[in-house]
Order: sequence, then C-alpha cells, then structure tokens
Amino acid sequence: MKVVFALGGSVVMPREGDVENIRKYAEVFKSIKDIGHDICIVVGGGYIARKYISIAREFTNEAFCDEIGILATRMNSMLLIAALGNYSVKKVPENFKEAEMILNLNKIVVMGGTHPAHTTDAVAASLAEYIDADLLVIATNVDGVYDRDPRKYKDAKKIKHLTTKELVEITKSSSIAAGSSSIVDPLASKIIDRAKLRTVVIRGTPEEIMNVIENRHNGTLIVPGE
Ligand code: UTP
Repeated sequence: MKVVFALGGSVVMPREGDVENIRKYAEVFKSIKDIGHDICIVVGGGYIARKYISIAREFTNEAFCDEIGILATRMNSMLLIAALGNYSVKKVPENFKEAEMILNLNKIVVMGGTHPAHTTDAVAASLAEYIDADLLVIATNVDGVYDRDPRKYKDAKKIKHLTTKELVEITKSSSIAAGSSSIVDPLASKIIDRAKLRTVVIRGTPEEIMNVIENRHNGTLIVPGE
C-alpha cells in the first residue's frame, strides 16, 4: 500500500522535543516500510513554527510568516530523516517531483511545507493525489474529527465516519492564518474531496500509526462520497 502521513509537528516535536520521541516515530515508520508499504511523511512545524511566527507577525505580513513556518517544517523533517538513517535520504524534497524520485528509490520520503497560505495537511493531501496514494493519514494531537473543537468544548462528539463532502462542510469555516491549528485545513479537505482520497484522522501516537496500518485505529475514517 502507498501511504502518505501528515505528521503534526506538535506530535513529533512537542515543545522541547526529545530524542526518544523522534526515535519512536522513526522506528514505527521503519517497521511499516519493512512490511512492504511505500510511505511519505509530511511533517508539520509544531511549536517552533508557532513561536517564530508569533514573533515575526509583529514585523511582517502573513506570507512571510508562512515562509518561516515552512522552514520550521523542514527543520523537523531533517530530524526525522536523521533518525531514519538509510531508510530515507538526506534531502527534504521541496516539491512533488523530488518527492516522487525519492519514493522511486524505494526510500521513505520526508518533507515539510511547500508554498505559503496552507498547512502541511494540504501538502500531504496534494502529495497523496500526485503519487496516487491508497491512503492519507492525518496524525495529529486530537483523536479524530469532532462536531466541534474538543479542545474548547467538553461535550464535543467524535465522528467515526465521514464522506469527503461532509469533511469539506465541517472544515470550511476554519482559519487559514499562519500557524493556525484547525483539525483539518479547509484546503486539505477540498483536495481530499477532489482526489477522492481515502483518509484517516488519528491521534498521532506511534502505536495509533501502526494501528492504522493494521486496520484497527480509533480515529475518523473519511471515504469518497457526497
Ligand atoms: P503546519 O500548520 O502544517 O504545522 O505548518 P503543524 O505542526 O501541522 O501544526 P500541528 O502541529 O499539527 O498543530 C506550520 C505553518 O507553516 C506554514 C503555515 O503558516 C503553517 O501554519 N506553512 C506550512 C505554509 O505556509 N505552507 C506549507 O506548505 C506548510
């Protein structure tokens, strides 16, 4: 199976970040590769992106803040590449052609952002479309898609199944400001819908990432449809 992961920066590099955390993610992705799957990982910017963006915003516009965010996603990607050793290559692709070339070398692709005004979720969805992936996995800090933000509302309900059109409806009012943290970027939702991508949204722990591959995750499954 060809799988693209959108790996939230806040899960792989929480605040300080630590060696063991990165090691655990590298190990799970190596195991998935060993079973025979082709994988691409699009890493988010997490804490360092938000920190840098919040300072830069005092001086400049959103587009330049986005460029800073993109650099943060590439820094996080390089850490994961370092931990993956020979399973990957020491290059963070900056576009999908470079990513596809690395995939064709039978290596794990690890990349960050590409252009301003979207998030790594949108990059992952576009990459999944570009390489005809069988599955897109959005591994984030919430355990699925809820009817409203579970970090703000205690009575928010998790939705186990959604169609791609329903996902577009749920996410269309989300913010696209630099560093924004909605569960799925509205642009990513539109790409998922147009590309008819089978998608899973999960809490991005190493265990749950393996559960997706073994088809027993606890997140939200999104299937093409009205
Ligand atoms: P993300 O918002 O994708 O990071 O990128 P993230 O870490 O996934 O967020 P969490 O951890 O899941 O919560 C960080 C910022 O970088 C810019 C945007 O400003 C984005 O908010 N960015 C990223 C782009 O402008 N373009 C990209 O292609 C990627």
